[in-house]
Amino acid sequence: MELKDGHYVIQGVNISAIAEQFGTPVYVYDAGKIVHQLKTLRTVFSNSDVKIKYAIKALSNLSILKLLQNHGAGADAVSIQEVHLALKAGFVPADIMFSPNCADFSEIEEAVKLGLTINIDNLSYLKKFGSQYRSSYPCSIRLNPHILAGGNYKISTGHSESKFGISVYQLPQIMELVNQYNIRVNGLHIHTGSDITETDVFLKMADIFFSVARDFPDLKFIDFGSGFKVAYKEGDTVTNVFDLGIKLTEAFNAFCTQYGRKLELWFEPGKFIVSEAGVLLAKVTVVKSTPSTTFVGVNTGLNHLLRPMMYDAYHHIVNISNPAGEQKQYTVVGYICETDTLGADRKLNEVREGDILAIKNAGAYGFSMASNYNSRLRPAEVLVINNEAKLIRKAEVFDDLLDGQVEISL
Ligand code: LLP
Repeated sequence: MELKDGHYVIQGVNISAIAEQFGTPVYVYDAGKIVHQLKTLRTVFSNSDVKIKYAIKALSNLSILKLLQNHGAGADAVSIQEVHLALKAGFVPADIMFSPNCADFSEIEEAVKLGLTINIDNLSYLKKFGSQYRSSYPCSIRLNPHILAGGNYKISTGHSESKFGISVYQLPQIMELVNQYNIRVNGLHIHTGSDITETDVFLKMADIFFSVARDFPDLKFIDFGSGFKVAYKEGDTVTNVFDLGIKLTEAFNAFCTQYGRKLELWFEPGKFIVSEAGVLLAKVTVVKSTPSTTFVGVNTGLNHLLRPMMYDAYHHIVNISNPAGEQKQYTVVGYICETDTLGADRKLNEVREGDILAIKNAGAYGFSMASNYNSRLRPAEVLVINNEAKLIRKAEVFDDLLDGQVEISL
């Protein structure tokens, strides 16, 4: 999104016009930015055999999945439903990594039938997998590295108290099962969390992988998960993927030489690919001054964008209707009937009722975490592609709220 000749545009398409055409609230994504981010990651790791498995959970609209598939990404799925979305979008089973956590074992059985790459994250399932499939079907192992990293505790997955992965200290138990059932381990995986700024975290993960890999002679890939942090505001600290690309590639290639064979280097980015590509457009319903604060109420809220209330996440907000207006201080709040702050004490160009606000970084974990709380309807999604705004999901209508409900006679 950029300001051009006094109007905010995405790929030259006027954003106010998008709000008018499709109504508000509406999620708008920039296909060009999504593809650019995918290419950036491929470029920085281009000296290894890198595979980018897009984390579907970040934004799972079918058209977004198709876009990424068309540009050569693989997919990272955490539920059998995400798997079926990926298949519908055209991903072939071999390009889908299935990394469920605490899902029913029947999902793993289905994934085997479909021919996916399977990532196992607890000893109980490793035992079940081994006794059921022995060496007939390979699996990858998700390790818990005991590293605390990530933007906040709720999105940290690699620390010792996290439910994710098999502790690296349980390697002897892993080996016992692998040997007992002759399990073919084709990959090792770690995902330490989301919003990681330090390159060092990935290098520490590399050390762990490299120290255990010699126990697994059948490896095809090593998967570093994700956690690349993007900018949420100007001057924000981000993961320096260029620096990481150089350092990790060097370490990885040296390791492969030692291992005796070239392996694939996998990542599963969600935020890096789609976060900055999305905005949530909302209409200002009311400007409400109290003795302490000027609130700007909008026709969306935590039901559509949970991140500010769930993680105290900062999402930059821009008044696209009044770019030249005087800057004033506001607190932007949603229409949900509980504390629902989208942005506290923000400087915005003067806000008037009816203005359109753009809430930035809404591409990742925006729509995918949206709900019908307060019996509100979920918004439309629009993709700007080849300089054209296209509807990729209709806004819900009242009947969608009733869909599936069984009205009993009382
Ligand atoms: N791989 C695995 C196994 C994951 O669990 C995740 C995210 C990813 C990859 C992608 O991570 P990313 O590139 O997006 O950082 N709802 C939270 C984020 C939860 C992330 C869960 N796992 C948020 O809005 O910040």
